[in-house]
Parts: sequence; C-alpha cells; structure tokens
Amino acid sequence: MSRLDAFINRMVSQRACLNFAADQTKDMSGPVLELGLGNGRTYHHMVEIMPGRDVFVFERAIASHPKSTPPDEMLIMGDVHETLPQALERFGPTASLIHADLGGHNPAKNDDFARAVSPLIEPLLAKGGLMVASDRMYFENLTEVALPADAVENACFIYG
Ligand SMILES: C[S@@+](CC[C@H](N)C(=O)[O-])C[C@H]1O[C@@H](n2cnc3c(N)ncnc32)[C@H](O)[C@@H]1O
Repeated sequence: MSRLDAFINRMVSQRACLNFAADQTKDMSGPVLELGLGNGRTYHHMVEIMPGRDVFVFERAIASHPKSTPPDEMLIMGDVHETLPQALERFGPTASLIHADLGGHNPAKNDDFARAVSPLIEPLLAKGGLMVASDRMYFENLTEVALPADAVENACFIYG
C-alpha cells in the first residue's frame, strides 16, 4: 500500500471512528480527552462534533494550527507518562471518550509506546465510554468494538 493510501485510510478512519464514538457517548457527561494535539486536526473535529462537551488536550509541545489550539485551561501539558496518572487523580474514572493519536512514523516504537500507555489510559475511561486509537492498544479489561462501516480495518481501533 502506498504511503498516500495509508495516510488517507488513517484520516478517513479517524473521522469515522470519532463520529461513531461521539454519537455513542453523546448522553454521557464526563470529559473528552484528546491525547496528542499535533496539528490539531482531530481536536478541531472533536470540538466541532461535540459542542457543549469539555475536550481536554494532552500534549508535550504545542505546534498546532492557530485555529485548532485549545484554550490554556483545556491544555494538559507534559509527557503523558506523567500527566495521565495526574489526570486520574483529577478526574477519576469519568472520561466519556478518549482519543489517542500519539504515534510517529516508526511502527515498532508506536507499538512499544501503546503498550506503555495502555495501563495509564484504561482507568480513566468511564463505564460505557469509548476509546479511539490510531494504534492497537493493550488493555486488561477493555475490548475491541466493531468499527463503523466507513472505517478501514487496522487504520484505527475502538475499545469499550
Ligand atoms: C501524530 S501527532 C497528533 C496529530 C493530531 N491527531 C492531528 O490530527 O493533528 C502526535 C502528537 O503526540 C504528541 N506526543 C507524542 N508523544 C507524547 C508524549 N509522550 N507525551 C505528550 N505528547 C506526546 C506529539 O508531540 C505530537 O504532537
């Protein structure tokens, strides 16, 4: 598969999975967590499709488009290995939707990273909440949810 095809699959799948998860959790009151701001495209989409819901963003270095830079009070700055345990103390197991897109271009490194952060993410999700990830995650109790029809297998994952 060309890099262009892989990129398009990832973008289409992120949108499809986020739309699906936002709809499935629309009646939940807990915060939404965006792990990895990057350019801010998915953050911008999440704010747009979930009006009225708090979207907190975890990032270690802001480099986003000005139109998709969160307000300071919604930013949780630092390495997620430190900020996710702090978020558990702050929020408890209340997140209605968690989206993680923390990886780079090295699949092996992304997999190691996913293994390391899975146990830090799992306790934050509320019962009935959904977790959307660009990489396969390694949870103890959360299981994979079937993807919506317009998402591409292995380009995105949903857990609940
Ligand atoms: C692929 S980008 C996210 C792209 C974003 N979803 C978008 O639509 O623009 C990954 C982001 O995760 C952040 N990141 C990676 N490892 C991190 C860590 N350990 N702690 C905090 N942020 C991290 C990077 O700084 C980068 O901005």
